Amino acid sequence: MLLGLFPAAWAGGPAPRADLSATDRARVKDITRPATDFSRAEPFETMQGGAGTIKKLINPDIFSHPAANLSFEGRQEFMVGNGLFRKDWVSSPSSTQASDGLGPLFNARSCQACHVKDGRGTVPGFDPLERSDVVALLLRLSIPGSADEARQRLGQGEVASLPDPVYGHQLQPFAVPGLPAEGRINIQYREIAVALAGGASAVLMEPAYSVEDLGYGPLHPDVRYSPRLAPPMLGLGLLEAIHEDDILAHAAGDHGDGISGRPNWIHDARSGKRVLGRFNWKAGQPTVERQSANAFSGDMGLSTPLFPSHYGDCTPAQQACLDMPHGAQAHLGEHEVPARLMDFVTMYSQNLALPQRRDADDERVLAGKKLFYESNCIACHVPKYVTRRDAKRPEHRFQLIWPYTDLLLHDMGAGLADGQDEGDAGGREWRTPPLWGIGLTKTVNPNATWLHDGRARTLLEAILWHGGEAQAPRDRVVAMTPAQRADLIRFLESL
Ligand code: HEC
Ligand code: HEC
Repeated sequence: MLLGLFPAAWAGGPAPRADLSATDRARVKDITRPATDFSRAEPFETMQGGAGTIKKLINPDIFSHPAANLSFEGRQEFMVGNGLFRKDWVSSPSSTQASDGLGPLFNARSCQACHVKDGRGTVPGFDPLERSDVVALLLRLSIPGSADEARQRLGQGEVASLPDPVYGHQLQPFAVPGLPAEGRINIQYREIAVALAGGASAVLMEPAYSVEDLGYGPLHPDVRYSPRLAPPMLGLGLLEAIHEDDILAHAAGDHGDGISGRPNWIHDARSGKRVLGRFNWKAGQPTVERQSANAFSGDMGLSTPLFPSHYGDCTPAQQACLDMPHGAQAHLGEHEVPARLMDFVTMYSQNLALPQRRDADDERVLAGKKLFYESNCIACHVPKYVTRRDAKRPEHRFQLIWPYTDLLLHDMGAGLADGQDEGDAGGREWRTPPLWGIGLTKTVNPNATWLHDGRARTLLEAILWHGGEAQAPRDRVVAMTPAQRADLIRFLESL
């Protein structure tokens, strides 16, 4: 019965994977086959991040450790990157020259202001009277039009959507002194009650977004908002080391269950080639390096070799912004964040360790794991992979990892839709997020919540928001007995 649910990719012929010998290919196929025995944990299952997995005390710093298999030199680099990830940048001109260049428009002063303790960010309270600034939730802005149109009109290769003509690709709620900020996000929640089998019920919070205190006149009449919460930073180098063939194998065809993931192909300006998107909520970025540079530019207004404008997301319609001083200094190179610093930040972002799984052998956790499989959650949240033999860094090579994602786009229904296109991703599509580490979310940031805009206050709420291709698995959870639902959540909490 179980086997019938598995996507054809697992049953199909040999995957290509040119990095592996025929023998290794067979071994990999065997070890990544979905579990069928739920009476005990699988071999190596607790080591969810492969040999880099850490066995440390569970405390709020649990997401901030370097991978266990990093070399001594690797650790040194990681420490420097850690400092840069935490550092508060300041506006120019300043006395601390190596830290200036922030803005002129920005969303936050440091990477960690959003990626709280390397985990996910916080949306302001669900209390309608609370008016605190929204930092970790950024609002992407776009107007209707394809990625190709965006490239043609803007004459640059790295754009995946048409920006608001005045406000650009995202709303920046902060600006350097003397410059108006762009505006502030206002979120109103409406409660939706959901009845569950067995007499239980849940309340979902449906958000509606608006922007107040606009600093540069009206937004485009057709502007669409896509709110995005900062995701956790775990195991990103390992996700990069998953072979493209393994990802595309899951995308091929319909598996008879109405679920078919799609890749987000991204235009890479440097090589002129199409590359596979893996990162961000719509898989809009192909590499950790490019997303990190994108963050320096869009979120903090800092130039890097990949995104060389010192003015970040300022548009030609924001002349006052373009007239502000910038932080690049001749003696330090032409970018506010020179290539050397960029490399440390990228290296850091690639090597944050996965914590060891807890209670993988617990009876209730195993029962929950079985329900996770039987409900077909694994059609998208693909349990395991063996990474490339030829990954760039030795630590990421040939590791058995358990991220629970296919890194592909899925139609998740109207309830989660943002109506915004990003590259090949449509307005109802989201990338399956990895679930590894998800059980420690609130240990690291007690105010953290789930889904692309943080609307889900509990893991159960996150599941109940699933629609579209994931409607049937979601309905199975609604139909479970309260004890079964508790087991399913126990399994997620053990990740
Ligand atoms: C204003 C808040 C904010 C700041 C500051 C910020 N990020 Fe992010 N980060 C986000 C959001 C939101 C996303 C998801 C974006 C999306 O889906 O488009 C993200 C995604 C990422 C990802 C991809 C993670 C994944 O699982 O797909 C990486 C890597 C990353 N950020 C690195 C950085 C680095 C490095 C910095 C500092 C240079 C930084 N971020 C600063 C909010 C922020
Ligand atoms: C059709 C693909 C698909 C299936 C099937 C699916 N999911 Fe998801 N899941 C997603 C996507 C895509 C998201 C992100 C949606 C968003 O943020 O708007 C997600 C998000 C989640 C999250 C929140 C993750 C986070 O980082 O915020 C949890 C928890 C989750 N899924 C659990 C499950 C469980 C349990 C099942 C089975 C009952 C399941 N999913 C079935 C695609 C799927």
